[in-house]
Amino acid sequence: MERKIGIIGIGNVGSMLLRKFVELKLFSEENIYIANRSSEKLESLREKYPSINICNNNIELAKKCSNILLCVEPLNLPHVLLEIKPYINDETYLMVSTSMVKHEDIRKFHSGSITIFMPTLISMVNGGVSLVFHNEHVDEQKKEFFHNLLNSFSEVKVLGEEDINVSQNLTASFPGFFAEIMLEFVKAISKRSQNVSDEDLEHMLLVSLLGASRLHLEKNMSFEETINRVSTKGGITYEGVKVFKETLPNVFDAALNASISRYDEISRLASKSIDELLRTQN
Ligand SMILES: NC(=O)c1ccc[n+]([C@@H]2O[C@H](COP(=O)([O-])OP(=O)(O)OC[C@H]3O[C@@H](n4cnc5c(N)ncnc54)[C@H](OP(=O)(O)O)[C@@H]3O)[C@@H](O)[C@H]2O)c1
Repeated sequence: MERKIGIIGIGNVGSMLLRKFVELKLFSEENIYIANRSSEKLESLREKYPSINICNNNIELAKKCSNILLCVEPLNLPHVLLEIKPYINDETYLMVSTSMVKHEDIRKFHSGSITIFMPTLISMVNGGVSLVFHNEHVDEQKKEFFHNLLNSFSEVKVLGEEDINVSQNLTASFPGFFAEIMLEFVKAISKRSQNVSDEDLEHMLLVSLLGASRLHLEKNMSFEETINRVSTKGGITYEGVKVFKETLPNVFDAALNASISRYDEISRLASKSIDELLRTQN
């Protein structure tokens, strides 16, 4: 398989993948091709990675690479797919960094191998879970190629396409959800504190969180076990846990319903846009 890779869309995800590819020596700069809608980002990357191949447009990249990572927003993906369609062929391996555009829609542009994945920005620090779905044309060699890349900086979990929507709330969306929940926790504690700065509170929380994650992963402790150990009946943690237990299910249900319904809406919009683009082209 060709040891060259092209990345279209150098935003949060595209730039993270690029940084990891170079930092972990997964590709040499000479074997990486990048394209982006606005040229400013590309110019700053030229300084950082002098040997990288900066393409003038997506078509140039599609002509030069058979392994193509598409890291654009879901509603921009249809246009990019239409643009590159004449320049890709059966050898092309498309790796799409969003599951919001359905496989049945992507395959309207490409009848070959397609991997859909949901990365996570946690991988900036070599962690987190990448959710992955391969279509039937992705052979063992391509799977190995893709898994080797993502396993270098995340844990790869292969799922059916239909399961990614919900599971991605625990992986891709997680850093955002987590940050909001923790922010509210710090605010609530800050209101009740006297001489401790918010920075100190945040630090205490993050160190506790890191330790709590390790406790669960390294000691194989379940959440229930931790609750039982820390929250002894009649004690202070017990009272707080009782309130969380009562109120959190509604909060999580509402947040997940909102997120899942927006996901479905974006998928529908992308699908509609694809059908319209293909209709006007014919
Ligand atoms: N962020 C996350 O944590 C995360 C996690 C999992 C999956 N995803 C998915 O990954 C994809 C990228 O997310 P992101 O956060 O990286 O988005 P982003 O920061 O907005 O980056 C998107 C990039 O795509 C470029 N782009 C848009 N249209 C283009 C076109 N026609 N041709 C070439 N480049 C184009 C944009 O260029 P400009 O510089 O002109 O804006 C921008 O650099 C999305 O589909 C998202 O759903 C994101």
